[in-house]
Amino acid sequence: MHHDQGIHLRSVCKTYRGRGADVEALRDMNLDCAPGSFTALIGPSGCGKSTAMRIALGLEDYDTGEVRIAGHPPAAATASGVTGVAFQDAALLPWRTVARNIALPLEVLGRDPAKHGHEIAKLIDLVGLKGYETALPGQLSGGMRQRVSIARSLITEPEVLFMDEPFGALDQIRRRQMNVELQRIWMESGSTALLVTHGIDEAAFLADYVVVMHANPGRVVEIIEVPFERPRRNELYSAPAFHALCDRIAKVLHGE
Ligand SMILES: Nc1ncnc2c1ncn2[C@@H]1O[C@H](COP(=O)(O)OP(=O)(O)O)[C@@H](O)[C@H]1O
Ligand SMILES: [Mg+2]
Repeated sequence: MHHDQGIHLRSVCKTYRGRGADVEALRDMNLDCAPGSFTALIGPSGCGKSTAMRIALGLEDYDTGEVRIAGHPPAAATASGVTGVAFQDAALLPWRTVARNIALPLEVLGRDPAKHGHEIAKLIDLVGLKGYETALPGQLSGGMRQRVSIARSLITEPEVLFMDEPFGALDQIRRRQMNVELQRIWMESGSTALLVTHGIDEAAFLADYVVVMHANPGRVVEIIEVPFERPRRNELYSAPAFHALCDRIAKVLHGE
């Protein structure tokens, strides 16, 4: 088992046992994300993507296997701020300003936000929200709220960043703009990133490796390396090599 700063799941099995039929959410899942790498997890609804992420965050138990997040057990990594997380619905507190939403993880860790004013300002700048420090979430567009959510996930300077469909609610044009932003932010942060997504083009644009999963039981079927140089630009979306790669991912996804 690796003990580096990456994300490592070894032979992880998880079955939900309820009143109805058992659901084998993950069968023998292996995942290795090298330190500083960007991995996309893609697969049909119900293939266990969110389960894998919740396990990696220490929010869900697993039956067998081993998990290490930057060398720590998952719950310890989350509790100590080694891990940052951004979810689909930006999940901001509506009564808190942009700056105070971004500061929230510091408060959860028992740190004094007043001592981190510089970091908060820097992140607001990084996600392009300068001037909106005192705005409330209700005064922002969907894309801006997602950027607050990304900034919040970075405030503890996490070594590992988990994102579960962070731009799922946005239209394609906004999503592509956000992907360019996210790439820049991730490159500057140096963190190890794991992104859950439905979008083949989003996975191929952002990731170093695309991990394709199938459902029933949830499992990894193939890992596809993405060779494009960084920083990747919007023009990449129209490159033939990009389309060829997306086609390949689609074939694996649909089991051809
Ligand atoms: N808390 C739960 N209890 C029972 N079944 C669950 C629970 N969470 C998820 N599942 C089931 O486990 C499978 C994987 O779910 P999930 O990890 O959410 O998949 P994905 O994120 O890929 O859509 C699905 O069949 C889902 O219905
Ligand atoms: Mg999910």
